Amino acid sequence: MLQGKTVVLGVSGGIAVYKAVELLRLLIKVQAEVHVVMTKNACEFVTPLTFQTLSHNPVHTDLFDLYQEQEIGHISLAERADLFLVAPATANLIGKLANGLADDLLSTSLMATKAPVLLCPAMNTNMYESPGYLRNQQQLVADGYRLLEPISGDLACGWQGKGKLPDPQQIFETACKLLVPGDLVGVRLLVTAGPTREEIDPVRYLSNHSSGKMGYAIARSAATRGAEVTLISGPVALNEPAGVTTLQVGSALEMQLAVDERYAESDVVIKAAAVADYRPLQKAQQKIKKSSAEFCLQLKRNPDLLAELGKRKKKQILIGFAAETENLLENATAKMQKKNLDMIVANDVTAEGAGFGSETNLVNLLFADGRQEALPLLSKAEVAERLLDRVVELLDKGKL
Ligand code: PMT
Repeated sequence: MLQGKTVVLGVSGGIAVYKAVELLRLLIKVQAEVHVVMTKNACEFVTPLTFQTLSHNPVHTDLFDLYQEQEIGHISLAERADLFLVAPATANLIGKLANGLADDLLSTSLMATKAPVLLCPAMNTNMYESPGYLRNQQQLVADGYRLLEPISGDLACGWQGKGKLPDPQQIFETACKLLVPGDLVGVRLLVTAGPTREEIDPVRYLSNHSSGKMGYAIARSAATRGAEVTLISGPVALNEPAGVTTLQVGSALEMQLAVDERYAESDVVIKAAAVADYRPLQKAQQKIKKSSAEFCLQLKRNPDLLAELGKRKKKQILIGFAAETENLLENATAKMQKKNLDMIVANDVTAEGAGFGSETNLVNLLFADGRQEALPLLSKAEVAERLLDRVVELLDKGKL
């Protein structure tokens, strides 16, 4: 399945190194070409000979090898990779990568590669939940790296909690998804993300807590899977995803214009944006002075962008989100039916780890044919992958 694909497998020094041996075996079994790069600490856990025997390639352990590589026709590991897979990825390696540090072969090659990078963090729970690690993780997601969530369970240090390297099979399947031709090649996909800003005067506006992370994750995943992606984004503090056409908008009306212009040519539309339902009746031309103790602001309904798209739906697959705080499934189902959607992603934005601003989301996928699928708490990247898996199924059904 991976014949002709080159994977550079980076291994940094954690007790989970032993799982990297099994992961290497799975990759070799499907004929991938694998080059292993180990940090010095990793060599303390498993000898390079183990990886060399399985991969049938020399294992690279220090920066000196990089110069050796340069001697051999300037084809470095970084350039050779179709996928750079790091398992386990320690907090230290994550920190170096997030802050542009490169002091050994693995961090140097990672910085130099243009290939997709899949990082599989593994560490003690407290480290995984520390502000420093979370800051670094957020930076790497923003920089376009893909991170596979660690799982919860018994950790080597005797702790119970999140931070355990996922099973090699799960890492292998995630890697394959990044290596095999995308299942969304040729699909024109329109995604909206983030909040809208409804201006009160030149200084003030009404908005909401959407960070755009959910929509950006969908755009990024869809592009990785080969789709032609247009992302229409409200004001957010995220880096634009690589390989995606991103249009920045401000108000709901501006978002509507941008969406309408592209609707007819889209195969799939996914509306993850938190569009303001109201805007000020009038936008003051000058900054409103603080005159009275109370201030009354008259609001006017914004158009319901999604409902309008539902009315004009032809061959598009139309998917909405439902941000609820109560009666999640009933409210989301009602929205799906009322707006003529093919699917709606229901999230209770008050649930722990769900909704606005978080790295994770807790969603139910509801389908027009009545099917429902409750997903566990996942990273927004993983939610995006699962959502797109269902989009592929709907597209295939449409072709039957
Ligand atoms: O951006 P993050 O910080 O990652 O947070 C993610 C999220 C919580 C914003 C996302 O998961 C989410 O729930 N997005 C939808 C938010 C929203 O507006 O939900 P709603 O139930 O109010 O709207 C239902 C659907 O109609 C949505 O697809 C929305 O895009 C659309 N809508 C809403 C109002 C409007 N005037 N026009 C619309 O098109």
